Amino acid sequence: MVPGAGDDVGDAMVEPPSRRRFLTNIWAGLGVVALLQFLAGAAFFLTSGRKRTGKKSAPLLEAGLVGDFPTGSVTLIRKGNLYLTRLEDGGFLAISKKCTHLGCAVPWMAERKQFECPCHASIFDITGDVIKAPAPRALDLYPVTINRDMITIDTSNPLRRSGFTPEQVIYPEERG
Ligand code: FES
Repeated sequence: MVPGAGDDVGDAMVEPPSRRRFLTNIWAGLGVVALLQFLAGAAFFLTSGRKRTGKKSAPLLEAGLVGDFPTGSVTLIRKGNLYLTRLEDGGFLAISKKCTHLGCAVPWMAERKQFECPCHASIFDITGDVIKAPAPRALDLYPVTINRDMITIDTSNPLRRSGFTPEQVIYPEERG
């Protein structure tokens, strides 16, 4: 009889672990589902981000005709998130709106004729060169081409520069 009694006891002891195993399996299954959802979300985020950053469909931006921009003017080109500056000598610079300190958008203050960063008070002149730190270098430039008076800006490739040099200025073609 001892074995029978032992069996009863044994059965009673076997049952809880199998229930526990059942619950463990459910939790493991839920964990796997959650992990798969996370991975699917991450994959979607990464691939959509890649599509966004890899969006090279329209890197060339037609800003307008030379005559649309008076000398000594700074025009916000919203589509490219940049400024098109026309210097007093007629040359053009396409200047990034992004501060080289910590990346804040830098507004042009027409009355003082300078860019003033609202975050930490860096100041840049009309060429984007640093007048006042903490910005460590001039605002980035975008390549400009002028063909038959149409100004085209390549927004795909901002150029880092330490400061302004006259070679950075693009001039309209001479008219004969
Ligand atoms: S982000 Fe422009 S000065 Fe700091």
